[in-house]
Amino acid sequence: MTEALARLASGRLVAFPTETVYGLGADALRPEAVERVFAAKGRPATNPLIVHVADAQMARTVVSHWPPEAERLAARFWPGPLTLVLPRAPHVPDAVTAGGDLVAVRCPDHPLTLELLRRYGRPLVGPSANRSGGVSPTTAEHVREEFPPDEVLVLDGGPCRGGIESTVLLVGPPAVVLRPGLIGAAELGASVSGVSSPASPGQMDRHYAPATRTVRIAPEDWPLPGRVALLAREPLSPAPALLLEMPSDPAGYAEQLYARLREADAAGMDLIAVVVPTDEGELWDALRDRLRRATTPVKG
Ligand code: TXA
Ligand code: MG
Repeated sequence: MTEALARLASGRLVAFPTETVYGLGADALRPEAVERVFAAKGRPATNPLIVHVADAQMARTVVSHWPPEAERLAARFWPGPLTLVLPRAPHVPDAVTAGGDLVAVRCPDHPLTLELLRRYGRPLVGPSANRSGGVSPTTAEHVREEFPPDEVLVLDGGPCRGGIESTVLLVGPPAVVLRPGLIGAAELGASVSGVSSPASPGQMDRHYAPATRTVRIAPEDWPLPGRVALLAREPLSPAPALLLEMPSDPAGYAEQLYARLREADAAGMDLIAVVVPTDEGELWDALRDRLRRATTPVKG
């Protein structure tokens, strides 16, 4: 913790655990620290960063307007996997918002990171701690595989419980979900934006993807040729070279998804195939959003 605080104070990077995925932290109000995050990730400057705060009081320091709706949502869901998009305060560096007038803020639900934020006393940017376009990390080990220790100090808070990134909500009015996540739009009283909405910068279509070619399939597309790692909730026959059995409930599926994709990617297969669940429900919708970004259709 002491080393982490010292690194942040000198404008360097510290990866922190959250309830969703690990974040790549830097002082959100120092442009040169924010610049290091973009450089380390290889992230395009058009993709804005989420500002992480210890509480609603710290959130108010990075926005120009904190409406009653933000207060209500923060009181109900923070600390937790909800990111609020609000008008930015002028002192927030341009790089954080990709030059836009809105800033995304969230208070993560992890004791180690809440302690870090409280003791540091200033907001931290925190994109997922992976190279741009790759699979988000859900363990400290995943982060260590991506960055050398002198570049990124990793605070190990164990595996992430949530497993997929926070819901991003444009507070509005009208309230619009820009990125689906662990908290559903219905629970937020919001509508869901189309993925190509201009109000949703950084929603690049290919994202969260392994290096190995990854396709989404229906059970009837099986078998596929070559050495295939198959992510499925039930075994298919003939057996694939590597079967990664997924939990049948959406929360369990979310918790495991990125670790299994990384495992499949590391196994040196010709192809990763994911049987896409067809169940109804908002968390399944969020999971299908991530699977769509990680994969290409098997046909066409
Ligand atoms: O769960 C999470 O949100 C994780 C953990 C570490 O907190 N963080 C995360 O950050 O997923 P990142 O950088 O991988 O995703 C940030 C996304 C952007 O791609 C964009 O969709 C949205 O948040 N975003 C950030 N700032 C925005 C803004 N000013 N306006 C609209 N959307 C914004
Ligand atoms: Mg990310």
